[in-house]
Order: sequence, then structure tokens, then C-alpha cells
Amino acid sequence: MNITNDIKYIGVNDHKIDLFEGQYIVPNGMAYNSYAIIDEKIAIMDSVDVNFSEEWLGNIEAALDGKAPDYLIVQHMEPDHSSSIRHFAEKYPEAKIVSSSKAFAMMKGFFGTDFIERQIVVGEGDTLSLGKHNLTFVTAPMVHWPEVIVTYDSCDKVLFSADGFGKFGALDVEEDWACEARRYYIGIVGKYGVQTQALLKKAAGLDIKIICPLHGPVLKENLEYYINLYNIWSSYGVETDGVVIAYTSVYGNTKKAVMALAEKLEEKGVKVALNDLARCDMAEAVEDAFRYGKIVLATTTYNADIFPFMKEFINHLTERNFQNRTVAFIENGSWAPMATKVMKGMLEKSKNLTYAENEVKIMSALNEESEKQLDALAQELCK
Ligand code: FEO
Repeated sequence: MNITNDIKYIGVNDHKIDLFEGQYIVPNGMAYNSYAIIDEKIAIMDSVDVNFSEEWLGNIEAALDGKAPDYLIVQHMEPDHSSSIRHFAEKYPEAKIVSSSKAFAMMKGFFGTDFIERQIVVGEGDTLSLGKHNLTFVTAPMVHWPEVIVTYDSCDKVLFSADGFGKFGALDVEEDWACEARRYYIGIVGKYGVQTQALLKKAAGLDIKIICPLHGPVLKENLEYYINLYNIWSSYGVETDGVVIAYTSVYGNTKKAVMALAEKLEEKGVKVALNDLARCDMAEAVEDAFRYGKIVLATTTYNADIFPFMKEFINHLTERNFQNRTVAFIENGSWAPMATKVMKGMLEKSKNLTYAENEVKIMSALNEESEKQLDALAQELCK
């Protein structure tokens, strides 16, 4: 597949993977993108997961018509992109490896060698000329690891964006971009909003016509749409008006309360996203929490603490710097309810959270009093 006259796609689709990065379900598989820039000199942009080394090396051969690449540019050392480097290095012993100093240190860790004889170390603003394609390297620490560089080709106005603008899903499956790009970004890079904002600022100074990420489709049109979403996500802004209800329920009584709340909110025209934390994809629930402006946390008091799935959920939020949201609480407890107190304690260090004034306390099952509290909360949340 040609991206431009000189840039070819040489990546692979993975439909065998069970959990991406050992935790994320990827029902539509995963793409590990790689690109060849063919000029007087030839550069390969990143490698692929080691399970696809052979296919990738075959793609390189086909794209280059038997020519040998001069450079392998390593933007990111996470193994989904780096674990075929050794195979490349063996097949093309003359090729130089271009990367950041931190990435070479990681190569030593992964491969026992940092390819010292073949290294070209690059940092912020360094350039590499392939002929008419002049590449400029831009550091992007923590998007998604500390060694990351992204690469700008001023000839075709292409930004090779590493994990940035990536998504879950293989490229031979049609699906909405934002849904799986959001789940990917919030799950994997969500903690590093400040660093992503810094990269977006640097990118704003470049004339970009095409974005070539390491996952997901090449972005060629309407780039403002993608950049705007990245700006919202990385600044912890609200993307969609509505209320997320994240809950756990042991015997169905807490569920009954959240269903009643959802109905009340929907009657008032509020968009509601419901997540049963014991059964849903946790990454999808986390994504929702960062998408909407308001969240209701509903759970049971359990072992003088809270139900385990809610604990895990709140940990996912706080470790990703959850902030700028309205949070409401529903607690259930048959003899000593304390879930709201525990949840508030877990969120103590989160910035700019507003707690709803109306809280709901359920003593085992909804009654007249807790029904009234639900009404009051629904009223408050739709303001
Ligand atoms: Fe796609 Fe951070 O690796």
C-alpha cells in the first residue's frame, strides 16, 4: 500500500493476540504498523511484534524490490514495535539503526546488545537526509515510554507519530476510529496527559498533511478532528455531555438503584453510560469515565472496604490522573455502610473533583428514603 509516492506501508495485522499489552481485549485484533521511505537512501520506520517478523521482512523485500534498506529508525522500544529489530539486524548487516540514546540502552536490556557498531543516536531536532526526504526527530517522552521519538518528513509533510494517534484493531477490520482510539489512549497513555500536550504543542509548529501512527489507520483527511480529540483527552477535558454510572451489585439491590437512577436521568434527556464493573470490559468503563463530565460510583460495603471491582476501577482512574469531573456516590451496606467514605478517600488526591451534594445510602434494598435520595441526585445531575 502506498501512502505517498515514496512511502509504503509494510506493517502487519495480528488476529492471534488474546490480550494486548497483557491486559486489553482486542476483539478486532491489532495492527503493528511499519513504513518504508524510499529515496536515494531507504529508511524503515520501526519493526513489528516478533510473532510477525517473517511476514514483516517479506513486506520489506516486496516494497523494496530486492534493494536493501540503509536505516532502521526505532521510534519506540515497546516489544510490539521493537521485538523484530534483531531479525532485521541479522538480515541487513549493513543497515544503521537510528534511535534515541534511551532506546539504545533499552536494546541492551532486551537483546543483550545495543548494536554499537551500527548506532546513529538522535535527539530533539536532529535530522537525517535520505535525499529529497529530510527527516527531523522530535522527542516525545512518555508518549508512551521515555525513549520515544516521533519523526517528521518535510518532503511529504508526514508525521510518524509512534503510539500517538494509534488505536486498537487490525487494519483489515472496518470500525469507528474514536471508540477504539479513546480506549487505547486512556488505557495506555492516559496518565501522561501533560507529556501528550507537550507533543501536541510541538506538532502544532509543523505543517502536517498525513499522520502515520504505529497502530491503526494512516490519517490523511480531516486531521483537525483527530488532533482535537487528542487535545481533549490529554487535557482531561469533557468530550461528551452525559453521566457515567459505574456500579457493582452483589444481589441486585444496588443494580436496581442504578437502573432507577438511569431511568430518571434518561427521562430528563440526559445521556447515560452504564457499566457493571464485574462484567463489562474494565478499559471501556475507564474510557467512559474520562469521556463524560459526570460520574456516579455505586458500590457495596465489603470487608469494611468496597467491592473489589470498584476498588480496581477507582485505582485505574487515579493512576491516570482522573480530574475535572463531578462525582456522585451511591453506597449499599446491610449493617455498617462505609463505601462512600472509602471511595472519597481513594479520590482524595485527584484534582478538581466536585462531589454531588446528594448522596444515596441504601440499607440492603431501596426504600422510601433512599428513593427520595435518588430523585434528588437525578435532579442535581441533570442541572
Ligand atoms: Fe505500541 Fe507503547 O507500544
